[in-house]
Amino acid sequence: MPVYSISLASHSGGADKFQNVMADSPRHPFLQGLSKHRGAPPTVVVIFGASGDLTARKLIPAVYNLGHDNLLPAEFFLVGYGRKAIPDEEFRTLATDAIKEFSRRELNADVWARVAANTSYLAGGYDEKAAFDRLATHIAAIEKKIGREVQTLFYISTPPSVFASILLNLGASGLARKYLGQPHHTKVIIEKPFGKDLESARELNVTIRSVLAEHQVYRIDHYLGKETVQDLLVQRFSNAIFEPLWNRNFIDSVQITVAEEVGVGTRGGYYEQSGCLRDMIQNHTMQLLALTAMEPPGSMDAEAVRDEKVKVLKAIQPLNLGPDGDVARAQYAAGLMGGKAVRGYLQEEGIAAQSGTETYAGIRLSINNWRWQGVPFYLRSGKRMARRVSEIAINFKRPPGTLFSKDGGFDLAANTLAFQIQPDEGLSLIMNTKIPGLETRTQPVKMSFRYATTFGSNTPEAYERLVLDAMIGDGTLFIRGDEAETSWKLYTPVLEHWKAQGAKGMDAYAAGSWGPASADALLAAKQHVWRQP
Ligand code: BG6
Repeated sequence: MPVYSISLASHSGGADKFQNVMADSPRHPFLQGLSKHRGAPPTVVVIFGASGDLTARKLIPAVYNLGHDNLLPAEFFLVGYGRKAIPDEEFRTLATDAIKEFSRRELNADVWARVAANTSYLAGGYDEKAAFDRLATHIAAIEKKIGREVQTLFYISTPPSVFASILLNLGASGLARKYLGQPHHTKVIIEKPFGKDLESARELNVTIRSVLAEHQVYRIDHYLGKETVQDLLVQRFSNAIFEPLWNRNFIDSVQITVAEEVGVGTRGGYYEQSGCLRDMIQNHTMQLLALTAMEPPGSMDAEAVRDEKVKVLKAIQPLNLGPDGDVARAQYAAGLMGGKAVRGYLQEEGIAAQSGTETYAGIRLSINNWRWQGVPFYLRSGKRMARRVSEIAINFKRPPGTLFSKDGGFDLAANTLAFQIQPDEGLSLIMNTKIPGLETRTQPVKMSFRYATTFGSNTPEAYERLVLDAMIGDGTLFIRGDEAETSWKLYTPVLEHWKAQGAKGMDAYAAGSWGPASADALLAAKQHVWRQP
């Protein structure tokens, strides 16, 4: 079987000469055959917000697994930065515990010992210039110790209220522009949320541009790091059978679903300020839409791919917010999840009694370009839905049923190509087929490809891919500033409209269901129904 390897873009060069850290550890079979250009130069990764949840759940395990796969540079250093004073040793213990609890692989003491030996922690405020000077000194001391220049990758994983302070202090301390003009220049990953509306996203971009060049900035959307999301591009552009059909002549509609079983849990405080539109639709589902609908790029270079994404996002028509318009919102009410009673959103911890925050959003979009004119794109996302599933379903036009119609009826299914992003990653195609027997009767059947069956199940986590790409300097799977603004431009009027309405007009759906009636109505208006994934 051929080795499965995807390298989406070229990197900025200069990495060949650097060896990898764990040259003696065997590579996972899927990593064999990976381009050696996937190696990063000597790097210090600094995590702002190092005692936070994301660091423990995702970032430390990602670094560990990159080490395990022999993808960290030989000279790799990890620096945790946060307001809380934590001794180095304690930070290493916290990191070890995080790997034990959250890594997709068991902790291998030898692998981790080599990373842990170069792991340290620095306490400081985010608005404290002197603390950033100490950070600069700390990095300079690492360079002195190893006798060579290292690139620094800053990972901003803090609440958004301190994004600007961090950026400005990276500028003031000189860290932002270090080695600018060379491949090992400073790089900065910025976590979501990237703003809360168009104006705040613009402001953040202005702050970013005051200290960094666009090519130094990696705005993260972890959906882009998911294996099946990358596979979408590979499927579309490496198989000759799809592209001729990928347009208004053959496609009837597209449905993008990101459904979660979890409720808001202990994140009520955050969620009340956010809601589903900001938390999931504006970013994750729009990224899925952009990759589904964009034109083939001239190359897999970061700018070529992102140019096409921005173009298609710009072609989306403004949403109709009137009665029978393009948007639906709802909150989950009490219901059953896996046979267990769960409470409604308004009864969750930290939620206002009259909350106007949606836990579900459904959207109907029109893309006004040559390829997609007249093809509705439906997006939905919600918490406490029947099943955790993220998928993109391409519904093709119905074939003429004349040959196989029964009693003059029309019983052929439309073909549906579904990319299942999670869980059980894979691809399926619904086709009509003959039921065996002496009569000619048809039945839709599902042809499936499953990652776990074909390639084994231990696929990398999104954050592994994204941290590695940023270390290498490959921005293909990150969001460009204009892309973030284009998406906010579409949704800011919706947010303003909903804010003005408060709880008025908020629909409800039972926890454990597939969403509210108002979202069904978005589709019914065009004789469509939501797919049961
Ligand atoms: C995050 C949202 O961006 O994505 C969460 O803030 C959500 O509310 C999560 O639960 C879903 O991510 P995944 O990878 O579990 O689908």
